[in-house]
Amino acid sequence: MSTPSLAGRRIVVSAGPTFEDLDPVRFLGNRSSGKTGFAIAAAAAARGARTVLVAGPVSLATPAGVERVDVRSAAQMHAAVMAALPADVYIGAAAVADFTPARVSDHKIKKRPGEDGLVLQLVRTADILADVAASARRPSLVVGFAAETGDVEANARGKLERKRLDLVCANRVGLAGSGFESDDNALLVIGDGLRRELGPASKVELADALLDLVAERLG
Ligand code: CTP
Repeated sequence: MSTPSLAGRRIVVSAGPTFEDLDPVRFLGNRSSGKTGFAIAAAAAARGARTVLVAGPVSLATPAGVERVDVRSAAQMHAAVMAALPADVYIGAAAVADFTPARVSDHKIKKRPGEDGLVLQLVRTADILADVAASARRPSLVVGFAAETGDVEANARGKLERKRLDLVCANRVGLAGSGFESDDNALLVIGDGLRRELGPASKVELADALLDLVAERLG
């Protein structure tokens, strides 16, 4: 079977973690490796799509033919993704911080004698995926990811509806970070009238299988 082409399409992919700075030397981050998003961007470009990859802080090589925009924080990722629209497809594969420090200290936070704890105040970040889906420049296809530790399918369906997505790719994550740091994964893809299990397979193979579904849905 030949690989469905995405020639003439514009695809924006977000990948990797975000880092939320606390002070000049510390930040809050997460275990996302960026491999899934980078594999999706590589596969999209290989199918002829004009592909923009908005990448959080990871040290992965830029895939051939991909326009890469590097960002650090959730706020920067939000701005870069919005600036990359309009597009035919948005695939939010990044593990975006849900909370960010209310204040960034301009000096290194010091411990004081007698202080046996530190309370950090965090505030919610804007939801990039939901904002893309609600945007006046909404892509025809908005695809989200759901990393869940339990009730995978129910939580994923909840996200699909709440964020008004076309497809959600759910995977189970464990304490060991399975799915997050490994080269392999398994995805449950859910959409209107669609429930498809992909893998277990390499993230490169999964990216290709996901783009088959994207191409099919774009029609
Ligand atoms: N996402 C986003 N912007 C955020 C947070 C998440 O775009 N500020 C996107 C991710 O790129 C991913 C999906 O939302 O596609 C993951 O959602 P997740 O953070 O797991 O779910 P939440 O809706 O925040 O729900 P919960 O915290 O209950 O798991």
